[in-house]
Amino acid sequence: MEQTTSPNTPRYDDQIARMFLSATVLWGIVGMLVGVIIALQLAWWPANLGLPYATFGRLRPLHTNAVIFAFAGNAVFAGVYYSTQRLCKVRMFSDALSWIHFWGWQLIIVSAAITLPLGLTQGKEYAELIWPIDLAIAVVWVAFAVNFFGTLVTRKTKHLYVALWFYMATVITMTVLHVVNNLAIPASLTRSYPIYSGLTDALVQWWYGHNAVGFLLTTPFLGLMYYFLPKAAERPVFSYRLSIIHFWALVFLYIWAGPHHLLYSALPDWAQTLGMVFSLMLIAPSWGGMLNGLLTLKGAWDRVRTDPVLKFLAVGITFYGMSTFEGPMMSIRAVNSLSHYTDWTIAHVHGGALGWVGFTTFAMCYYMVPRLWNRPLHSMKLAELHFWLGTIGILLYIVSMWTAGVTQGLMWRAYNEDGTQLLYPNFLDTVTQLIPLYWVRVVGGLMYLVSVCIMAWNFIKTANAPAPSSAPVEA
Ligand code: HEM
Ligand code: HEM
Repeated sequence: MEQTTSPNTPRYDDQIARMFLSATVLWGIVGMLVGVIIALQLAWWPANLGLPYATFGRLRPLHTNAVIFAFAGNAVFAGVYYSTQRLCKVRMFSDALSWIHFWGWQLIIVSAAITLPLGLTQGKEYAELIWPIDLAIAVVWVAFAVNFFGTLVTRKTKHLYVALWFYMATVITMTVLHVVNNLAIPASLTRSYPIYSGLTDALVQWWYGHNAVGFLLTTPFLGLMYYFLPKAAERPVFSYRLSIIHFWALVFLYIWAGPHHLLYSALPDWAQTLGMVFSLMLIAPSWGGMLNGLLTLKGAWDRVRTDPVLKFLAVGITFYGMSTFEGPMMSIRAVNSLSHYTDWTIAHVHGGALGWVGFTTFAMCYYMVPRLWNRPLHSMKLAELHFWLGTIGILLYIVSMWTAGVTQGLMWRAYNEDGTQLLYPNFLDTVTQLIPLYWVRVVGGLMYLVSVCIMAWNFIKTANAPAPSSAPVEA
């Protein structure tokens, strides 16, 4: 099944897209299952099973690494391999590099899944993996970069469509972020010391952390939106000019906003203010993207009710708009003094992660599966069930965590009437208040996980259906 298009179109490598897509679904389920387990541990501590490997401190980074690098990472690669070939009207530059990229990345994920529960970590959030794995990431990522840029160079089209610009920003920036943040001196096979110390280390780490959100969870997904949305809506992008303007504004502004993670820290005041101001400015290009996406649906809204691709995209883009409004608000010092250290941050994260990243990925999968396996989707009803379970799951997750976050924040700062004593001096005072809300999150997370399993089942049934005798589904 090499070919999904007419004989006149170039022979694309669709097998690599199929593999990355399958890995996305598989690792998505694993990563979210670990998410549900740690959510359960926060509501009911015996769920850590009394095993060091299964404690919250070890499983939490396993969750974040699995969902960010395995689920979202593989999703980005699936979409990039599928769309780049079609946008450049040429096969990927090197099949060998494609396969090195695929298997290398899966091997890295497996090593992460072994080392993190063993407690082997660098202790930097989203950059926990130990130095030998970091080296492997750099090598595999460079293989991807050469393959991607090689394809752009050998392309048969003149114009570079805006989606490709978003992919380019991702490939280049993630290389720089990963290398700079992980510079370290190895002390043994599993231990190393960062070359930065103290505040510099914190600043580099959050320059990385924030831009990992920007260049792994935002720019590639905007690129995917710009490819799959007009395709599925069968309409051109609302404003091509806007897409270019918001691209350049986004990549320019994102890079400076990292210090909003270090407000009220020892970081110099001017640097904190810089982070805050750039975060506030980020609303403009972020909403430029959201509006461009939603307005592209103008004239296709009737199909949003029935087409799973458009349905997931419409809600995903709306969540993008929501979290890119919430983020800048949280970067205002006064708001951050309430939200920081609380579950409000967790609500913000998962609005973006489950709503924007998750739903955009699902939309892309519903678009690609029938085309890559050349069969109609097994069941529209199951796709509908996936959508509603997922949406209600997200709402339960984020509403409970907003409530928990504001409760925590307000309780921590509550004083008695003459202002001489904290009303809730013990940390446990807040914890016991939050337990019911943590249970609501468990339910929401479980619904989301079940909805993804339904999607996986739908895809397996689709792929295993007898091959149709009619013409291939148009790519
Ligand atoms: C079934 C779905 C999911 C559940 C139940 C879940 C649950 C959780 C829990 C319980 C935490 C720890 C919160 C804490 O420390 O207080 C967490 C953290 C996190 N999750 Fe998820 N998660 C899910 C899906 C996802 C997805 C799909 C992504 C990304 C694409 C994601 C990204 C993150 C990140 C980045 C953090 C760390 C947040 C921070 O440090 O502020 N999660 N998740
Ligand atoms: C204009 C866009 C955005 C801005 C300005 C922004 C701003 C912020 C702020 C101020 C925080 C809290 C920092 C703290 O108190 O420690 C935060 C945390 C976070 N945001 Fe955003 N956000 C934006 C969009 C997004 C999106 C779309 C996602 C996900 C796809 C996301 C993922 C995260 C994550 C994972 C964290 C937790 C980091 C950590 O402490 O571990 N953000 N963001």
